[in-house]
Amino acid sequence: MAFLEINQVDKIFKDAKRGTQVQALQDISVTIEENEFVCLLGGSGCGKSTLLNLIAGFEKPTIGEIMMNGKKIEKMGADRGMVFQQPTLMPWLTVQKNIAFHLKLKRASRQKKKEEAQKYIDMVGLTGFEKHYPHELSGGMSQRVGIARALLQNPSLILMDEPFAALDPFTKLEMQEELARIWQKNKRTIIFVTHSVEEALMLGTKVIVLSKRPGRINKIINLEMDRPRDSTSPIFNRYKREILTLIEKNEEPLLEEDSMHQVI
Ligand SMILES: Nc1ncnc2c1ncn2[C@@H]1O[C@H](COP(=O)(O)OP(=O)(O)OP(=O)(O)O)[C@@H](O)[C@H]1O
Ligand SMILES: [Mg+2]
Repeated sequence: MAFLEINQVDKIFKDAKRGTQVQALQDISVTIEENEFVCLLGGSGCGKSTLLNLIAGFEKPTIGEIMMNGKKIEKMGADRGMVFQQPTLMPWLTVQKNIAFHLKLKRASRQKKKEEAQKYIDMVGLTGFEKHYPHELSGGMSQRVGIARALLQNPSLILMDEPFAALDPFTKLEMQEELARIWQKNKRTIIFVTHSVEEALMLGTKVIVLSKRPGRINKIINLEMDRPRDSTSPIFNRYKREILTLIEKNEEPLLEEDSMHQVI
């Protein structure tokens, strides 16, 4: 039995008010094993967030099903943790309390909350900022809090939706290295959405390249590269060329807005 199985999933959004519908995903089938770091790569609007939301259980597939450990995903669950593009921190809580929020819900002791939070604060490189509030943090630091919070929940699957998209190139690189290090040390299963080929190649064990809308699987590539990844190495650039060629072949003249929507 696979850890995560996505079976022939379609997602169609109906817009009753406008009398239209948008097919976001078409015939998505993929199997993901435990400890994989899967990068979901595709252009804007190809359905990456939609697929992540289906796995998270925020939405349901129109056709098909998603199974985790043999059980159909029908709603949200503590076995899946989400890190969003913009960190959704609680502004009235310190770094430490934001990270330990999940334990507060579980009514853990003060000592346990402090110890657990510290472990993840150290892990993501925020030591010394325990008592800071979100407005006193940089974008990169806020993202670290979001990642630490997701790790502390100890979900078996971490879903990340372009978590580094808003960061400058230096911070982004630093965060990518940090995440790869944390993943290597702690071995979690991660599904990471990105529209950057380089980011997917820096991080993933597997890249799923999605086509334009409706998002279909263009290709699944297993990355055989050492870590830390070197973006100047020949193998990295071979993968990059392969993916860019796939994307170029998928380029078609822009469709008229109307033909993207089918009338119900
Ligand atoms: N809740 C919704 N209701 C209606 N349409 C939606 C909804 N969510 C997404 N869509 C549509 O589905 C398509 C895919 O959207 P999605 O957000 O999954 O794309 P994406 O690949 O994450 O894009 P981006 O890289 O810009 O974040 C888009 O055409 C979008 O308009
Ligand atoms: Mg998105």
